[in-house]
Amino acid sequence: IRPIIIDTDPGIDDAVALAIALYSEKLDVRLITTIAGNVGLDKVTKNALRLLKFFNKNVPVALGADRPLIKAPIDASDIHGSTGMDGFDFEEPTEDLVLKENAVNAMHRVIMDSKEPITLVPIGPLTNIALLLKMYPEVKENIAEIVLMGGSTGRGNAGVMAEFNIFADPEAAKIVFQSNLPLVMVGLDVGWKALVYPEDSEQLKVMNQTGNMIYQLFQKYRGGSMKTGLKMYDATAIAYLLEPEMFQVVDTFVDVELNGSMTTGCTVVDLKGYLGKPNNAKVCVDIDPQMFKQWFMDSLKKCN
Ligand code: BDR
Ligand code: CA
Repeated sequence: IRPIIIDTDPGIDDAVALAIALYSEKLDVRLITTIAGNVGLDKVTKNALRLLKFFNKNVPVALGADRPLIKAPIDASDIHGSTGMDGFDFEEPTEDLVLKENAVNAMHRVIMDSKEPITLVPIGPLTNIALLLKMYPEVKENIAEIVLMGGSTGRGNAGVMAEFNIFADPEAAKIVFQSNLPLVMVGLDVGWKALVYPEDSEQLKVMNQTGNMIYQLFQKYRGGSMKTGLKMYDATAIAYLLEPEMFQVVDTFVDVELNGSMTTGCTVVDLKGYLGKPNNAKVCVDIDPQMFKQWFMDSLKKCN
């Protein structure tokens, strides 16, 4: 059983990732930290608490950064709705699970206190993780790996070449990619093939309580345009933790463009070694869509 910390901005695909991670018998979610991203910090934190209450799981939650390191904040409410999780009427959660510590201090404590190295799983902008690595570099000794959802070897979804989580806070992303920690980038190359179609969604509807909740969120995800498939971005990071065999992975050098005139926030993935730099990341370049679908459905069947 692998101890992990999930740093998240729920977010409809974050909600799905959290469901799968929290019900997996192979993952021990020690802490959930929240980060402004899909919507503002208060909303994403509330969403994390709503989900935990819905799942009846008692994982501590710590609030992270309410804005990027340098850039002005952006959001993705066009995709996830103004609440960040439009489509389901959640019960109002209490604040019982909310820690007094902020995300950075809570991560520091959980990592340093853990007997086994912790895997960090950021599925939102990387502000909290960058702050953690700068404030408490000693955590690096007890981090097993960072498995992040973000980036792309090619085109983007927030800019021509930039993926949302990296584009939202490129300076933070650069710090994380330059951290020298074992790092896995699970980005758009695989997210764009991890698709849920209307017929899959109909199966979720009658699967269990969680499946039904996700089905309802899907009616609002990206304005409900499901015909071409809904992208399960954040769930691919969890898939990598649990079933890496479904991915094609390449060891390579990745950096983040900060000053491009058109490409700021893009991950420069040097697959052909033009830059002559040592590898600093494993990049998921492809995924078996059938294996993903099977894993996705089987994982959600384990939920309540
Ligand atoms: C990422 O952006 C967010 O909107 C999603 O939750 C995911 O983490 C995909 O680019
Ligand atoms: Ca996310």
